[in-house]
Amino acid sequence: MPRANSPTSYGSVARALHWLTALLILANIPLAFLAENLSRGTDADVARVAATYSLHKTTGIAAFAVALARILWALSQTRPAPLHPERRVETLLAEAVHWSLYAALLIMPVTGWLYHAASAGFAPIWWPFGQSLPFVPKSDDLAAQFRALHGWSSKLLVLSILAHVAGALKHAFIDRDGTLARMVSGRTQAANLPAATYTSLRPASLALLAWAALISATLAFAPATPPQTVTATSATGNWAVTAGTVTFTSKIIGTDVTGTLPGFSATINYDETRKTGTLAVTLPLAGLTMGAVTQQATGPDFLDLAHNPTALFRAGIAEQGGQLVATGTLTLHGRTAPVDLPFTLILDGKQAHVTGQATLDRRDFAIGSAYADETTLAFPVIVTIDLTASRS
Ligand code: HEM
Ligand code: HEM
Repeated sequence: MPRANSPTSYGSVARALHWLTALLILANIPLAFLAENLSRGTDADVARVAATYSLHKTTGIAAFAVALARILWALSQTRPAPLHPERRVETLLAEAVHWSLYAALLIMPVTGWLYHAASAGFAPIWWPFGQSLPFVPKSDDLAAQFRALHGWSSKLLVLSILAHVAGALKHAFIDRDGTLARMVSGRTQAANLPAATYTSLRPASLALLAWAALISATLAFAPATPPQTVTATSATGNWAVTAGTVTFTSKIIGTDVTGTLPGFSATINYDETRKTGTLAVTLPLAGLTMGAVTQQATGPDFLDLAHNPTALFRAGIAEQGGQLVATGTLTLHGRTAPVDLPFTLILDGKQAHVTGQATLDRRDFAIGSAYADETTLAFPVIVTIDLTASRS
């Protein structure tokens, strides 16, 4: 069997690459739907969902590698001419669908990968090359855009595959010509087809137009997530908070996932000369985000925001061995437990910059009680604060 294409049939390399991509894509799509619909009730369920997403992502990346090889190979090859060039509309549609499939082979894995890199997900790609991408920050807004692009692109991909397979079946069972056979075995019935019938730009333009319309419509209508700027308001006290962020990080199935709190208000009294003071922080939790697991984190199994919408931290500030520490209690998820928050204070005229980190144990607050060990969700939760205050 010749390796290269001829004007009438596909060579062994093109055929092998075609069927390998087909296999990867046709396995990959059901995996995504399976992952979305698996139940998430127990520890083992969540691990299964993560593994299914990881398999989807990994086969997606593999499909991308094969697709790149396939496109590079196709560029170096003659393309077999259609068996019925006189059927102009049919040939145009078949060709447009081929171009659409080539576009999908690039757009699907790239949007999926970008979505993965921008979101605080917990299902890793199974490979040793890291999970982030240069120039792609973790951002809920960006992740939502890539997610919408990936989801809507998959609809055009599925449509193209349906049209493509229907066409192949029509050739095999209605026309009974050699179209399917020349992609399966390289055999061809047509020995003297005119070569180079594929010079028209029309099918490629048609496919390009469909993809451009889909991508622009998705970007125009994609649901924008609410802006992630934290509203830090100051109540009373001799220091007023002007800006700040509170984030928390948990290890979910071995991967660090970071969440952001939507805002807080604080009353701070601090005596710089004695280095003592008091602190009362109210944290409204509605609007908390945690990437792909926001819904689970805020739902009844974890923070249960419907019943516990606010967290409270009350503390006294004192210096302990040269380190400022806010020692107090945190009320979260209806439970109160002691928490120490060591922090660094940098005073610059009327401005103060505060950074600190505390490690909580989720069991102290009965969070995720159904997850008794650390297989799915680790016990420590690292809370990080970074805020700016000014003297009031
Ligand atoms: C050829 C490659 C790929 C194909 C054909 C594909 C196809 C799909 C499909 C059909 C869905 C379901 C969309 C929906 O429910 O509307 C999906 C979802 C998803 N894909 Fe892919 N995908 C590919 C590659 C990737 C890659 C490389 C990644 C990440 C590295 C990825 C990550 C995801 C994720 C995280 C979801 C869930 C989206 C959600 O949160 O709803 N995909 N993919
Ligand atoms: C069961 C599934 C499939 C069948 C039966 C099938 C069948 C075929 C056949 C018979 C051809 C040759 C058409 C001709 O000679 O004019 C072809 C070409 C092609 N197929 Fe498929 N295919 C399948 C799945 C896929 C999938 C999943 C993709 C990609 C996502 C794909 C992408 C392509 C492309 C891009 C071409 C054009 C090759 C070229 O000339 O450069 N196919 N397919």
